[in-house]
Amino acid sequence: MKKVIAIYPGSFDPPTNGHLDLILRGSKIFDELVVAILRNAEKNPLFSLAERRRMLEELTGGFKNVSVDTFEGLTVDYALRVGATAILRGIRAVSDYEYELQMALMNRKLHPELETVFMLPAEQYSYISSRLVREVAQLGGSIKDLVPEMVEQRLKEKLDPALKFQHSRKTKAGKRV
Ligand code: PNS
Repeated sequence: MKKVIAIYPGSFDPPTNGHLDLILRGSKIFDELVVAILRNAEKNPLFSLAERRRMLEELTGGFKNVSVDTFEGLTVDYALRVGATAILRGIRAVSDYEYELQMALMNRKLHPELETVFMLPAEQYSYISSRLVREVAQLGGSIKDLVPEMVEQRLKEKLDPALKFQHSRKTKAGKRV
């Protein structure tokens, strides 16, 4: 039988527990899931494309049918290039619906053969967004439970580069410094 490949497109700046929850759910219903990070020259991302890719690769390393890629241009064109027949998107609350509906219908107009599949993340993640995570972290609030520990650490290092230096000294010496 034909494999069903889906892409999960987004900015992932940074990846959150909500994204991971959706990846887990998507990996269960699709044969292959490609997490596709948009290279968007207009936005001024906190994490570079390469950093986001590295984080997502580490986070999804345990899933056999999940891969990570980056793309430019239209999502539908990318989806067709990789042989996908579905676009996975998460809907957290009613407020997401209008934007997602508009995008899904536009994508359908562009390529009617591609289906958008909406999934709901677990309730405890329904208020988490990358934008709020960045804002809370930048203003010194705790982002524990909102993002994986590795992302929390990378965010701390990004916002306070001195921590990265300490971390690499710690790793090199194999002990706390
Ligand atoms: O995580 P985000 O930022 O909500 O993801 C938005 C994304 C990347 C899915 C959307 O901006 C997108 O598909 N951009 C690619 C350009 C495109 O295809 N635009 C038309 C969409 S209707």
